[in-house]
Amino acid sequence: MTTPRSLSNCLAPAKLNLFLHVTGRRADGYHLLQTVFQLLDHGDRLHFTLRDDGVLRRMNPFPGVSEDEDLVLRAARLLKQQGVIRGCAAAGTWGADIALEKCLPMGGGLGGGSSDAATTLIGLNHLWQAGLTREQLMELGVQLGADVPFFLFGHNAFAEGIGEQMQAVETPDCWYVVIEPGVMVPTPAIFSAKDLTRDTKHVTIADFSSSPTSRFGKNDLQEVAASLYPEIADAIEWLRAHGAARMTGSGACVFCAMETEHAAQQVVQSVPTHWKAWSARALRQHPMAAFLSNQATT
Ligand code: C5P
Repeated sequence: MTTPRSLSNCLAPAKLNLFLHVTGRRADGYHLLQTVFQLLDHGDRLHFTLRDDGVLRRMNPFPGVSEDEDLVLRAARLLKQQGVIRGCAAAGTWGADIALEKCLPMGGGLGGGSSDAATTLIGLNHLWQAGLTREQLMELGVQLGADVPFFLFGHNAFAEGIGEQMQAVETPDCWYVVIEPGVMVPTPAIFSAKDLTRDTKHVTIADFSSSPTSRFGKNDLQEVAASLYPEIADAIEWLRAHGAARMTGSGACVFCAMETEHAAQQVVQSVPTHWKAWSARALRQHPMAAFLSNQATT
C-alpha cells in the first residue's frame, strides 16, 4: 500500500469534561483528578503535506506565539526526534508543511491546543510511516500536556491520575450546547487558587455509569473560575434555564446536554449575542481512531 503525500481536513475535536473532581495534589504540584472526557464532532482542522527535506513548517503561525510554544510544531518535532532515537533511517528527512484552521478558543477548557497536538502526532505518524503504537504516541503526548493522551486514546474516557490513566466509558448519544463566554482562562491560575478544594471523595466508573450523566458529580474548578471571571458565572446562570449547565475543564466554556439536534440549535439561536455559541454532537470515537494502532509496525 502506498502512503499518501498529504492528509487534509483532519479534525482535532473538542472535548468536554462531563464532571471534573480534584482529589489531591502530587509532589510536583500537578493535581490528581477524576473526570470523564467526552469527544465532540466540532473542532480545529489540520492539513499536512509531506516534505522530504527534513523541514517542519507551520503555514499560518499564531501571531505572538513562538515556534517553541506552538504545540503543533512541538508535537511534530517530538515525533521526529523519537524516530531518530528509535534508529529509523529516514527520520532525518521527515518534514511537513502543517496548516491549522483554528476554531476552538484558547483558554476555553475544550482542549483545543492538546487536540491539535494529538492530531499532529496521529497524522504525521501515518504520513511518515513512523510506526508508533497508540501507547507510544500517548507517552509522547503526556510530555506536551496533561490532556493530550486522552485525544490519542481514541474513545471517551473515565480518567484519573493527572488525566493520563484512562478507561473507555460509554456516554449518552446526545447533543451539547456550548457557550464561549469570551474570556481566556489561564489553567495554572485556576489550579493554584487558594480556595480550590482538593479533597473530593473518590468515585468509580460504575458510580458514573449508573447515574444520569449530566447531573453526575461537579466541576471542582468551576467555583474558582466563575469567581475570577464573572462572565463564566453569567453564562452558567443563563444556560441553567435549559438544563444542567456546567463549565468544562478550567473554563471558560460552559455546556448543557440536549436530547436532539433541533433542541440544541434552538437554544443556540436564543443565546445573547455577546457570547459565541454552537452545538455539537457527542462522538463515540476519535475521528482519526482508524489511524491509531495497538500493534507496532516497525
Ligand atoms: O498540562 P497542561 O499544560 O494542560 O497544564 C497546564 C497547567 O495546569 C499545569 O502547568 C499545572 O499548573 C496545571 N495542572 C495541574 N494538574 C493537572 C493538569 C494541569 O495542576 N492535572
